[in-house]
Amino acid sequence: MKLDIKKIREDFPILSTRIYGKPLIYLDNGATTQKPKCVVEEIENVYYTTNANVHRGVHHLSQQATDLAEDARNVVQSFVNAKHNHEVIFTKGTTESINLVAHSFCQQFCSEGDEIIISAMEHHANIVPWQLQESIRGIKLRVVPINEKGELKLDELKKLISPKTRLISVTYVSNVLGTINPVDEIIEIAHKRNIPVLIDAAQAVQHLEVDVQKLDCDFLVFSAHKLYGPTGVGVLYGKEELLNKMPPYQGGGEMIGTVSFKGTTFNELPFKFEAGTPNYVDVIATATAIKYIKNIGLDSIKAYEDELLQYCTDELTKIDGLRIYGTSVHKSSVISFLVNNIHHYDMGMLLDKMGIAVRTGHHCAQPLMEELGVEGTVRASFAFYNTKEEIDILVAGIKRVVTMFAN
Ligand code: ALA
Repeated sequence: MKLDIKKIREDFPILSTRIYGKPLIYLDNGATTQKPKCVVEEIENVYYTTNANVHRGVHHLSQQATDLAEDARNVVQSFVNAKHNHEVIFTKGTTESINLVAHSFCQQFCSEGDEIIISAMEHHANIVPWQLQESIRGIKLRVVPINEKGELKLDELKKLISPKTRLISVTYVSNVLGTINPVDEIIEIAHKRNIPVLIDAAQAVQHLEVDVQKLDCDFLVFSAHKLYGPTGVGVLYGKEELLNKMPPYQGGGEMIGTVSFKGTTFNELPFKFEAGTPNYVDVIATATAIKYIKNIGLDSIKAYEDELLQYCTDELTKIDGLRIYGTSVHKSSVISFLVNNIHHYDMGMLLDKMGIAVRTGHHCAQPLMEELGVEGTVRASFAFYNTKEEIDILVAGIKRVVTMFAN
C-alpha cells in the first residue's frame, strides 16, 4: 500500500518544528524516532485515568493498570510472534536486555575459557556486557570480521566456532553501515552445533517484519524508543526453556516467590526478570506505538524506506569526494558517509545550522570505526515520515558545506 506521507507527518507534531528559522529535517532516526500523537496521548491518558502500581493492589486502578500492562505484553508477543507471552521480558532498553542475558546466561552456562562470538559491526551494547563477563568469569570473545562492503564474513564465523562456543550474539541491522545481516543463516549454522543465538534487533524491528519463531532465534532484543514508542522500555524475547534455566538478573520486588532469611524463592517467567516497579506507563504506550506502525504496515514501511535509501544513495554518490561506508545490497535506511577530508563534526554542525539533524561520531561502535580506518562518520537515518524533498535539502546542504571548505 502506498503511504500517505503528508497525512502521516501530521501525526508527528515535532516534524513541523523550525530550527534556526528553517524547517526541521530529522534524519537521526537510528538514534531515536519521533513519537506519534497517539503514543504521547496514551502516556497522558494512563497518568490521568489509570495510574496505579501494577501487580501490587487489589484495588480497581491497580487491576486496570495491570491489565493494560499485561495486554501490552500480548501486543509485543504478537508483534514478534513469540510462542508464549511469558517469553517477553520488559527491560529499560536494548542495552539492559543484553546485559541481562550476558549476566544470567554466562552465570548458568559459561565457565572460564568458554567463548562468545560477536561481530566487528556490533554496537558497544553488544560488546561491553560480554567484556564484563570476560573479566568476571574468564570467558573469551571471538569477533567475526567484515568485508569491504560492510558484510559479515560467514566463512570466518564458521571457522571461529569451536567446542567452547556457548553463544553467538549479533546485530540484525548495523546502526552504522545499515547492513541487514543474514541472521537466518547464522542461526542455522549455530543450531547445527547446538549453539544458541542472540539477535540485537534494535535497528531492525522498525524496518522489517521480525518473527522469532520463523527465525528460531534464542534471544532477541530491541528498544521501544527506536520503534516510535517512549524512552525507557526495552524488550528481551527469550525461549522459555533457556529463560527458565537462567538465574535472575536483579533482586527486589516482583521477581520473588517468597522471601525469608532462611532462603528466597523466585517468581515465574516473565516476572523473575522484572525486579522492581516496572515502567508500566511506557510499556502500555509501547503497545500503542506497535499498533500504530502495524496499522501502517511494515511491508509498506519497508518498501517506502527502501525507496528513500535508494534515492539518497544515488544523490550522494553524485557528490565528488563523498564516500559511503556500508555498500551491501542488503541494507536498511541508514547511510554513513564522509566527504573529502571534512571532519564529521564540522559537517554535522554546519548541517544543523541548516535545520538538518544527522548523527556524527563513532555511533557507539568504536571497534567498527577502527576497522573502517576512520574516527567517525556522518550518519543519515530515515524513517517512514521522511521525504525525498528532505533528502534534496540534505544533499544541497552537504554541497554547501563542501563549497564552504573549498573556499
Ligand atoms: N544506538 C543509537 C544510534 O545508533 C543511539 O544512534
